[in-house]
Amino acid sequence: MSINLQVIKDHDELYSRGVEIIQHQLASGATTFGLATGGTMLPLYEKLVSSTIDFSSCQSFNLDEYVGLKASHPESYISFMNKNLFEAKPFAHSELPNGEASDAQQEAERYETLLKQINLDFQLLGIGENGHIGFNEPGTPFEAPTHVVSLTESTRQANARFFDSIDEVPKEAITMGISSILRASTILLIAVGEKKRQALTALIHGEQTIDVPVTALQSHDNIIVLTDLDI
Ligand code: GLP
Repeated sequence: MSINLQVIKDHDELYSRGVEIIQHQLASGATTFGLATGGTMLPLYEKLVSSTIDFSSCQSFNLDEYVGLKASHPESYISFMNKNLFEAKPFAHSELPNGEASDAQQEAERYETLLKQINLDFQLLGIGENGHIGFNEPGTPFEAPTHVVSLTESTRQANARFFDSIDEVPKEAITMGISSILRASTILLIAVGEKKRQALTALIHGEQTIDVPVTALQSHDNIIVLTDLDI
């Protein structure tokens, strides 16, 4: 296990470090970027938007998308990415799973094929309170490719804050699989706030188990973790 753990208490400093890491990736020749959504990423994207960074010759691939939500819905992940990053910092090409596809399983297979054709140089990751990465919920085999998932009640509750009511939170999503995530050459995980302590502690000090999906990262040899938590 090779985790480069960086504990930075000051949020502004933590996110500036995140931007530096991404700039360093670009300077080292990275062209394919795996991106993430979630509240944790907002300050990072804000800083990227106000930086001089230029992704116009790069490609991006998002981790996941809700199934059954219109792309135009403000909480679809495509809307999130357009609003918070792509409008200001466009990539040459950006891909997300299509949550409106008539056959979600087929769409998951298309996305996995695409991911296998390129090799992600870099993957940005947040973490769910229950240790999920992307939308790989506890119990997901580490070998799973991009697939359709049923969201757990706790994940829907956690994401309900972005919707008018819990009933509006989709019940399914398409997510990159854990094996798809692990193929990225470098992974940057950002975990901020006490709610992420348990999951992060499992990654740093726990046994590898499918009950806490983030522990799959213990098998990767190039992980950077940025956190404000003393672990
Ligand atoms: C969602 C996303 C994950 C994200 C997680 C944490 O479930 N699918 O990619 O890491 O939320 O979100 P937040 O950063 O808002 O805590």
